[in-house]
Amino acid sequence: MEAVRWGILSTARINAAVIPPLRDSPESEVVAVASRTQDRADTYARQWRIPRWYGSYEALLEDPDVEAIYISLPNGPHVEWSIRCLEAGKHVLCEKPLTRFPGEVERAFDAADGAGLLLMEAFMYRQHPQTVRLVELVRGGVVGEPCLIRASFSFQIEDGNVRLDPELAGGALMDVGCYCVSGSRLLAGEPERASAHQVLGPSGVDLRLVGTLVFPGEVVAQIDCAFDLPLRQSLEVFGSEGSLRVVWPWNVRVAGIELRRGNTVEHVEVAEVDAYRLQSDNFSRAIRGVEAPLLGRADAVGQARAIDSLYRSAEVGGEPMQL
Ligand SMILES: NC(=O)c1ccc[n+]([C@@H]2O[C@H](COP(=O)([O-])OP(=O)(O)OC[C@H]3O[C@@H](n4cnc5c(N)ncnc54)[C@H](OP(=O)(O)O)[C@@H]3O)[C@@H](O)[C@H]2O)c1
Repeated sequence: MEAVRWGILSTARINAAVIPPLRDSPESEVVAVASRTQDRADTYARQWRIPRWYGSYEALLEDPDVEAIYISLPNGPHVEWSIRCLEAGKHVLCEKPLTRFPGEVERAFDAADGAGLLLMEAFMYRQHPQTVRLVELVRGGVVGEPCLIRASFSFQIEDGNVRLDPELAGGALMDVGCYCVSGSRLLAGEPERASAHQVLGPSGVDLRLVGTLVFPGEVVAQIDCAFDLPLRQSLEVFGSEGSLRVVWPWNVRVAGIELRRGNTVEHVEVAEVDAYRLQSDNFSRAIRGVEAPLLGRADAVGQARAIDSLYRSAEVGGEPMQL
């Protein structure tokens, strides 16, 4: 397959996880990067040995050689720039979360469909064999009927981080809780009710949020996320016959799943792979029509519905919201 020519929109920190696998893969090449300032673009392109660089995002969109754009902006402008890229004829892999608003997700995917291009929300953990194996185990019935899911993600952030800015759609649920929502939905389907409690920081975004999602059949997910607790992540599924626990479900530092049944604990081995590589290879192959993109409109709409319902509940003191 002919390598897909990628452009990188912004010089965000997360690019350090995404650029190396794009460069290492025969299915992609990084041809350009854009920053808001020319100085930053110059320095960044030199540092990462990127052949072309632009001091505005608009200039990247005008580069006819760029086929796909990876958007690593803060959350707030994700939809606006996804649509601008799509209207400029580029496929878009946009960082999570696309937005908390389902109507905005629809607008972005309408732009993709209208242009005959692909748009995908970058939930890289979904590509990891650990996630695939977890779903197989649950669907295969190893824990019986799943009834309770617990999903967590927290880490501590420094003052001035874009994640604290309400204008840029910051907040713990947006940034890390979105993984907990995604993992719960992957295992249990689309939630019917949502409730949440949030602790707001001085800037007005949620520093901590604890939520409940209720799925068909009264399967319940408890999710928690925070910016004011040390790094901690986990995903657990409890069923009538046992439980499964993943210690690093989101940015998989050590792969593996623990299965408990009765008094036995079994370790399910999973290959250590780079989920960012799987993600960009999946998207490049999808662009060439070799395989389907793993994530599309339905998943992104489901994500936004659940996130928005949790926020709406938290905003009114935890009253349950119907989805
Ligand atoms: N999938 C993952 O594993 C993962 C991990 C971390 C983050 N993320 C996601 O990736 C995105 C970026 O996160 P990050 O922590 O890497 O961001 P970051 O380092 O703070 O960088 C964001 C970049 O966006 C550009 N930008 C445009 N408007 C901005 C504004 N008003 N304020 C600040 N920067 C602005 C800047 O690039 P220029 O100055 O070059 O224009 C900046 O370098 C977020 O959506 C986050 O949720 C995903």
